[in-house]
Amino acid sequence: MDRPDFPDPLDLFSRHRSIRHYKRDPLADGHLDLIIEAGRRAPTDAGGHMYSVIRVTDPALRARLATLAANQQHIRDAAEFFVICLDVHRLRQLIEHRGGEWGMRERISLIYGTSDATMVAENMMLAAEALGYGTCYIGAVQNNTDVIARELALPAGVLPLYGLCIGVADEERLPPFRPRVPRDLCFFENRHPGDYRAGQLDAAYAEMSVKRDWYESLGRYFATGGTMEAREPVMARAWRQQELEPQKLDTE
Ligand SMILES: Cc1cc2nc3c(=O)[nH]c(=O)nc-3n(C[C@H](O)[C@H](O)[C@H](O)COP(=O)(O)O)c2cc1C
Repeated sequence: MDRPDFPDPLDLFSRHRSIRHYKRDPLADGHLDLIIEAGRRAPTDAGGHMYSVIRVTDPALRARLATLAANQQHIRDAAEFFVICLDVHRLRQLIEHRGGEWGMRERISLIYGTSDATMVAENMMLAAEALGYGTCYIGAVQNNTDVIARELALPAGVLPLYGLCIGVADEERLPPFRPRVPRDLCFFENRHPGDYRAGQLDAAYAEMSVKRDWYESLGRYFATGGTMEAREPVMARAWRQQELEPQKLDTE
């Protein structure tokens, strides 16, 4: 099996960039298995394995999902496309199979399921990149979470979080390496500093505004009228549909 040599595995992190242009080539023999096994080895809170991964091999389904996820062509082009889901459905069945009563409520399901699923996805992404493939997460699944959940026949307790494209990068159309927010705004010692100073915020914008002002992108996603606000009602519908809407507690 062809595995590229990596003198230093830490190289992997600095070499990461999201790939949006793929060649039509499939993954090499055996590589899909290595990527899936990397995902399976992710740590899991309390051993709950609160995730599932749907590999989308049906081209018509893949095309519908691409349309639902902001019509992104790279979802159609990548050799592989996975939908990463939080999943407490299987865990509930395991508990009830042994006569236990399901005791996990919606808030905990959402948080723990998201963290478990994310670790699986990141292991898969890193394994794919270690094997030399390009990858791209697809958060735009959240533009139509409820419809996508139905397309994938997800039962109650399962929620799509994001997609993951994996494939052979088109070397002619590699994107630049994107910067990251300055370290002193994200990593702290012993306590959070609270509000940031204006100078620190300016420094973050200076660091992040490479080709254009970072605010153009941040504002489009996170300011009023942006993508994230539009996703809120979709998320509300999806949580209700998948029976993950937090309920009022008896103790409240
Ligand atoms: C959860 C998540 C969702 C994302 N969704 C999308 C997406 O829908 N489409 C896309 O092209 N890139 C998507 N990305 C990739 C980000 O745009 C990218 O990671 C970020 O701009 C930093 O660039 P880099 O990964 O090349 O360093 C997503 C990344 C994450 C972590």
